[in-house]
Amino acid sequence: MRIIKTKDYEELSRKAANILAAEVIRNPECVLGLATGSSPIGLYKNLIKMYNDGDLDFSNVKSANLDEYRGLPRDNDQSYYYFMHDNLFNHINIKEENTNVPDGTNMDAEAECKRYDQLIKDLGGVDIQLLGLGHDGHIGFNEPADHFAVGTNCVDLAEQTIEANKRFFASADDVPRQAYTMGIGTIMAARKVLIIVSGKDKAEIVKKAFFGPVTPEVPASILQFHKDVVLVADEDALSLCDL
Ligand code: GLP
Repeated sequence: MRIIKTKDYEELSRKAANILAAEVIRNPECVLGLATGSSPIGLYKNLIKMYNDGDLDFSNVKSANLDEYRGLPRDNDQSYYYFMHDNLFNHINIKEENTNVPDGTNMDAEAECKRYDQLIKDLGGVDIQLLGLGHDGHIGFNEPADHFAVGTNCVDLAEQTIEANKRFFASADDVPRQAYTMGIGTIMAARKVLIIVSGKDKAEIVKKAFFGPVTPEVPASILQFHKDVVLVADEDALSLCDL
């Protein structure tokens, strides 16, 4: 695993955006695995800037998002479909038909998970998967468990995740209790992984995930076994690691 330590969130966002941009420049038909949450917002801003400066072209790029709340309509401003359009897709020249997010409105979990796995397969897999890190070590919405889920699955969100995400909703009661997420197997099959982590509140979990034992109790720890992972993290997030 390669670790890039940055001074702050701003530098993290710029350096991580450069890595994603390099992939788009190298392969204009690449498949980007994209993430939501607060961590990638700065990175997306940098990509938009590079696009506006004429340095990036997304016209042949395809994307597949990691996860989506189950039961939220697309036009709900907390759906990940909405987030992606608001923070990235509406500001670059990616084609709508080339973007993919699990369909939270499909209440048939089995059918939706099967559809999404097939879709990723049909895309030829993910070239570079962007990830954030949950406080309990989740990636996508793969929560701590007694096994690593392979394909797309429907998960019950952990209490800690509902607590962390309630800031985006009117109250904790409004946070959906379930989500569809790419599996750990899907994430591990990505040719490259780029994980970004910022802030003191993530320092403990960064140490556990990247320097502790590999266990499904800390889902991100499996990334230690991936052969092409870059962790871009700020000093605060790396403050408990001996580097
Ligand atoms: C959310 C998302 C994840 C995200 C993580 C961290 O619940 N499902 O994809 O990486 O939690 O979020 P944040 O970046 O806001 O800390």
